[in-house]
Amino acid sequence: MPNFQFDPIEIDEAQARTAIAGSETAVVTELQQRSYHKFEDSTYPLPNDSTEVKRLGKSRSLVEFAILVSTYALEEYQHRLWQLCLKAHSHLARITAPKHALDIGCGPGMWVLDFAHQYPDCQVTGMDLSNVWPSEIPANADFRTGDFMAEWKYPQRFDFIHSRAVGTGIKSWPQLLERCFENLKPAGWVEFHEFYFPARVDDDSMKECPAFEKWTQTWTNGMNKIGRNIKGVLDVPNALRDRGFVNVHHESTKWPIGPWAIGDRQKQLGEMMEGNLCNALDAATTRLFVQVLGWRENDVQHHLREVEADIRSRKAHAYIPM
Ligand SMILES: C[S@@+](CC[C@H](N)C(=O)[O-])C[C@H]1O[C@@H](n2cnc3c(N)ncnc32)[C@H](O)[C@@H]1O
Repeated sequence: MPNFQFDPIEIDEAQARTAIAGSETAVVTELQQRSYHKFEDSTYPLPNDSTEVKRLGKSRSLVEFAILVSTYALEEYQHRLWQLCLKAHSHLARITAPKHALDIGCGPGMWVLDFAHQYPDCQVTGMDLSNVWPSEIPANADFRTGDFMAEWKYPQRFDFIHSRAVGTGIKSWPQLLERCFENLKPAGWVEFHEFYFPARVDDDSMKECPAFEKWTQTWTNGMNKIGRNIKGVLDVPNALRDRGFVNVHHESTKWPIGPWAIGDRQKQLGEMMEGNLCNALDAATTRLFVQVLGWRENDVQHHLREVEADIRSRKAHAYIPM
C-alpha cells in the first residue's frame, strides 16, 4: 500500500439538518421499463440499461475523455465517489510498471480508461457481462464480455487484477479468488474495493428514518435469499491467505450518506452518496423485492418513495461500511 490513509469520519454537530425535497422522477413504476441480465445466465440482479450506466459513470468518446479525465459530470456518482474516497488514487497496491491489467465487472469502463491513461505502457482489459463500454477507447485498453465466475480465457496472465462494487454478483468469493490466482503472473497483485450492507449508524439516529432502516435490512435479507452474502467480502482477507496469496492488506472506511460528517471531503462524499443511493434505489430494489421477496410492485414503489424521503431528510448519521 502507498502511504495512504482514509479520512476519519466524525459527526459535524454544526451541520444544519436541512431536508431537501425528494426527486419526482426517481421512481420507475414498471419493472419492464428497466432491462436486466437474464437470471438464468447471470447472477447479477441490477439493471444493465442506460440509466444504470449513467449512475456508474457514463461512457465518453476518446476526445471527451482526454478533456474530462478528471472532471466527470456529477451524475457519474460511483466513479467519482471512489475517486474522492481514494484521493484520486486508481489503486492502492504497490504495482510497478504493469504490462497487463484486468478490471473484472468493469461496468462502463471508467476505471479502465483512467488506469490506461495513468499507465500508457500497460494493456488494460475490462471484462463485464454486459457490453456497456465506450465505443472509442485508447489503444492500450480493450473490453471483453465474460462471466468472471466462469473460466477465463486470456492469452496471457496479468500483473494486476482489480475490481470494484461487484459484490452483488458474487456467490462464492473463494471461487473468484481461484480465478484470480490462476490468471495472475507470479508476484502479481489483486485488489478489491467493496461496500457491504446493511447501512449503519453509530448512534441512535436511524430511528428517525424507519423506512430507510426497513429497506436496508430487507434488501440485505433479499440478497442473502439469492445467495449473495453481501458481508462475504469481510472474509476475503482470510480466503486470500488460504488460497496462498501473501502480503495481504485490508483497509476499511465508511461512506457517509448525506453531508453530516466533519470535513469538506466527507461532506462532498456524503452528498454524492446520498445522490447515488437515491439514484440507485429503484435499480437495486424493484426486481429483488418483487421477484425474490414477493412484494407487489405498487408497494415497492410506495416504500421507495418513503425511503428516499427518509434519506433526503438527512436525519440519520448513516453510512455504508466499505
Ligand atoms: C455496480 S457495477 C460496478 C461497475 C464498475 N466496477 C464500477 O465500479 O463502476 C457491477 C458490475 O459488475 C458486473 N458483473 C456482475 N456480475 C458479473 C459476473 N459474474 N461477470 C462479469 N461481470 C459481472 C455487472 O454487469 C456490472 O456492470
